[in-house]
Amino acid sequence: MQVSGQKIVVLGTGGTIAGTSAQAGDNIGYTAAQVGVEQLLTAVPGLQALAGGALVAEQVAQIDSKDMDGEVWRTLSLRCAHHLNDSEVRGVVITHGTDTLEETAWFLHEVLDAAKPVVLTCAMRPATALTPDGPQNLLDAVATVLAPGATGVLAVAAGEVHGARHVQKVHPYRVNAFSSGDAGPLGWVEESVVRWACNSPVVPVNNTVGAMNNIVSAATWPWVEIVMNHAGASGRAVDALVREGVQGLVVACTGNGTIHHDLEAALVRAQNAGVRVVRSTRCAEGQLLPKPGDALPASQGLSPVKARVALMLDLLRMHCCLLYTSDAADE
Ligand code: SIN
Repeated sequence: MQVSGQKIVVLGTGGTIAGTSAQAGDNIGYTAAQVGVEQLLTAVPGLQALAGGALVAEQVAQIDSKDMDGEVWRTLSLRCAHHLNDSEVRGVVITHGTDTLEETAWFLHEVLDAAKPVVLTCAMRPATALTPDGPQNLLDAVATVLAPGATGVLAVAAGEVHGARHVQKVHPYRVNAFSSGDAGPLGWVEESVVRWACNSPVVPVNNTVGAMNNIVSAATWPWVEIVMNHAGASGRAVDALVREGVQGLVVACTGNGTIHHDLEAALVRAQNAGVRVVRSTRCAEGQLLPKPGDALPASQGLSPVKARVALMLDLLRMHCCLLYTSDAADE
């Protein structure tokens, strides 16, 4: 893959970065996804200059990211793949709401062959705030695309560069709302220069062969829900989901993968009935350590929301494999 292009494509999806409020000082009573991406870029002094006048804007969606869904992901991943394949393109920036940014980042990491940087950015304050954080985040995202060695799916906010695997929104209000927990950020953006935490950024680039084909050919997304263990948990919600035809369940377990015995019994019943069940932990930091003899498989270090994305993609892959196999048998 040639990484010599100059164009930087900015794909807009909405979020608070594109939000407006009636009163300039109001940082919570606003409506997300109001300002077009083209207008967002124009409003940031020095942004085009930093990008060498090579910024190209494209509106992919205009939503509050709480409403993010498989159809927007399908469109977004196809537009990313299209631009990444263009030798004129140096990298892609995605403006996104903070609420589900980590899920989109992990989804894109799993499906794109991102040898070039794909940088998600966002804001905690609307565009109309007295001191909005979106403009600086946009500048930092473009600086990250331009940074030597930048590759893979990254998230940039509040001067930090995070990798798709560990990034998590950890605060509902403050401007530095993201953390990579024990892993820490991959780097920092300082006056438009990225200082990587290591000598060279180690961002694993995913090469999920066929994932994009599966996304294109699938008519619907597999139905995967998240259930949580808690004091007094029962198995009734799980039994009801299985009756309704759920295909996968991620359990946000307590601690190191523990589950109330009633809920666990329902999950084992679900697994025996053919539903894929994966355990993650509801702990904000660290990851679940599986042990021999566990009745339910673990999420390989993924948080519940990212484990859900991984399970959806795995079910999609299995579904498409079955389709290809039966098509081949018919020929
Ligand atoms: C959203 O996620 O779209 C709204 C909240 C935010 O961007 O901070």
